Amino acid sequence: MSNGNPSLRDKTLAILKPDCVRKNLIGKVIAHIQETGFKINAMKMVKLTPDAAKGFYEVHSERPFFNDLIAYMTSGPCVPIALEKENAVEEFRKLIGATEPQKAAEGTIRKLYADSIQENIVHGSDSDENAAKEISHFFPRKELLEINGF
Ligand code: CMP
Repeated sequence: MSNGNPSLRDKTLAILKPDCVRKNLIGKVIAHIQETGFKINAMKMVKLTPDAAKGFYEVHSERPFFNDLIAYMTSGPCVPIALEKENAVEEFRKLIGATEPQKAAEGTIRKLYADSIQENIVHGSDSDENAAKEISHFFPRKELLEINGF
């Protein structure tokens, strides 16, 4: 956000996944995210239905792990968070680390807290285009902070 007006490049969607919620790590992970300079634009706790999870992860529908991924993502509540920071997608992916926690860099959220390639604590959008789609999957415009202006 260089000129005070957040652009598409300044947004990403995080999801604190069901393993994060089950392990009582919501507070620690949000603190980590905020300490790195991300601003929270919107946040809620939801339990995904199978249809909602399939819609969100449609891009992976042909992958061998798809059914397991849907079972995991619907196994308990999760916390989608719309985040804002300059170059948000790339900065957030750096913060969370590689999908597979053993390969994630030291100090990243997945290295610190994740157990496996599937149960990897947190999701982050992989492109600006997907960030916009994923944010709208969970949050209507009227729920976003910059629209409400608090
Ligand atoms: P995420 O970043 O949310 O994007 C897709 C998710 O699928 C990923 O995190 C993991 O939770 C899961 N995933 C990706 N690759 C694998 C894999 N090889 N085996 C099992 N689950 C995977």
